[in-house]
Amino acid sequence: MCGIAGYIGKNCAEKQLLESLKLLEYRGYDSAGIAVQDKNKINITKTTGKIIALENMLTSTKSICGIAHTRWATHGAPTYENTHPHLSNDSTWAVVHNGIIENYGTIKKDLISKGYNFKSETDTEVIANLLQQQNSNDIHALINTCNMLIGSYALACINKNIPNKIFLARKKSPLYVASEQGEVFIASDPVCFLSKASEYYTLADNQYCIASTKHLEFFNTSGQKINLQPTKTEKFDISYQKHNYKHYMEKEINQVPAVLNNLIETYKSADLLKKFDKNYLAKFNKIVLIGCGTAYHAGLMGARYIQEFARIDASCHIASEYRYCNPIIDNKTLCILVSQSGETADTLAVCELAKAHGATTVALTNVLYSTLARMADEILPVCAGTEIAVASTKAYTAQITVLYMFAKQLQNVIANKKENYYEIVHKLAKKITIPSPKSLKKAVLEVLASEKVFFIGRDYDYVSVKEASLKLKEITYINTAEHPAGELKHGFLSLVDKNSVVFALATQQHLLNKTLNGAHEALARGAKVIMVSQFNIPKEQTQGFYHTVKLQKFSEELLPISCISFFQLLAYETSLAKGLNPDQPRNLAKSVTVE
Ligand code: M6R
Repeated sequence: MCGIAGYIGKNCAEKQLLESLKLLEYRGYDSAGIAVQDKNKINITKTTGKIIALENMLTSTKSICGIAHTRWATHGAPTYENTHPHLSNDSTWAVVHNGIIENYGTIKKDLISKGYNFKSETDTEVIANLLQQQNSNDIHALINTCNMLIGSYALACINKNIPNKIFLARKKSPLYVASEQGEVFIASDPVCFLSKASEYYTLADNQYCIASTKHLEFFNTSGQKINLQPTKTEKFDISYQKHNYKHYMEKEINQVPAVLNNLIETYKSADLLKKFDKNYLAKFNKIVLIGCGTAYHAGLMGARYIQEFARIDASCHIASEYRYCNPIIDNKTLCILVSQSGETADTLAVCELAKAHGATTVALTNVLYSTLARMADEILPVCAGTEIAVASTKAYTAQITVLYMFAKQLQNVIANKKENYYEIVHKLAKKITIPSPKSLKKAVLEVLASEKVFFIGRDYDYVSVKEASLKLKEITYINTAEHPAGELKHGFLSLVDKNSVVFALATQQHLLNKTLNGAHEALARGAKVIMVSQFNIPKEQTQGFYHTVKLQKFSEELLPISCISFFQLLAYETSLAKGLNPDQPRNLAKSVTVE
């Protein structure tokens, strides 16, 4: 959802900023731009398209101070005019922004009535002009401007008359700053300076900063100086190599066995689930899981596991819905917030809400320095390693594995059992294999030839097909839908015809025949049915089906963890066959930091 960066130092600002933008591209790739201070003016280079297009336009200059942006369009199409940085009318201020200004319409109207012109349709351009209107060169220009804004923002601003200083503000969008040996690095994600700085500062909401190579000065909303404590950078393990894989997504799917091993190692060595003991659980009468997209699906699976194993009332909700539905939540609620990035705006909002209602919050996140990790009372690390492809794969598998172990831990505590869940997952990690592209060919060809792709399943399998369907639509742009296999006759069947392919997933013995019934109902309407299961289904029951995919055998409760790689790879291979870039699907971004 847009990435911002800043640099002041001894090196070429454009070069440094470009490096940061490349690392922030996961946050949006609609357009990109850089503004640098050059004597008494600000030079802007910007373009629509990906960072590579910007790189081709840049020439090295002597400038040592600048700001940069990679955009995921919210207000205004991804055009040149709407590309950041934005300048104030008098070209004094340049601004980059991550977030959404909700009252920009009113502000814009007011500024126009005062004679200001606007070149873009963005909400951000009002900020540059509000700064100009302040007619001040100190932090109050930015504080007064922000006081007029409703919404979310991480801002980095430069002024042509204030050399080698960058003004920063934050509200509900991440912003980090580091200073090391005469260089200042600013970014939406500390990954941009992990190799360059030994420590960094995290701006909290309503905090401001004036960054220069001499010092980082932090301020509160009253303009008083405040002290912030730095965080050391060493603890992050980031890998940006694709190794022999064509895409990050392919690499990340194939990393699953290693991820599971690492996860068990981490949990077992520190006995991370031990704290969820009888005393801990005694405080709660329900568990609420929250997430968006794939993280929501992981939460759904977690809720099923908790209900199944521990017999505790557990439910999962979409964060953007839950925050506005007047939820019943209090100090007897344990709220688990599932988020790969730990920066998803709606999930953070629910965390805040849950805390305000007295609930205990747990962050199930892959990014231990994220806002969510800092905000929640407890952290359950996902341990999947950096996930770069926009489509979440290994993080989903790791999230449901952690939730599986968590649910087993609760079961052990509640039912006085001693099940060694580490051992169970360890065996799974040793045995699990990722399907080969060849084994997927038939399914891929059928998906490519079909107008509609449907997924059906029940119970655990319904959760898995929800994720399968999201993955396929996300990176292939094929219109897909998922349905509980028992619901088909209540509406869905009217969509089914000979141009449909239906994937039927059945991994639970007691539901196998039920799902087969659904598959036959689709077959009878002309659909091509692809049955996906670990069972040896008698031939008579699959007669007429187009294809049967045999899954690796594991216990039914582990199948949600192991079966998903088939669907992830199906999406990946289909995307490749369509000539698309699976790592960067159109209109999407990895981290959704706006509501
Ligand atoms: O970082 P988060 O897990 O909070 O992200 C939530 C969703 O935006 C994310 O899972 C999205 O649905 C993925 N692109 C799906 O592959």
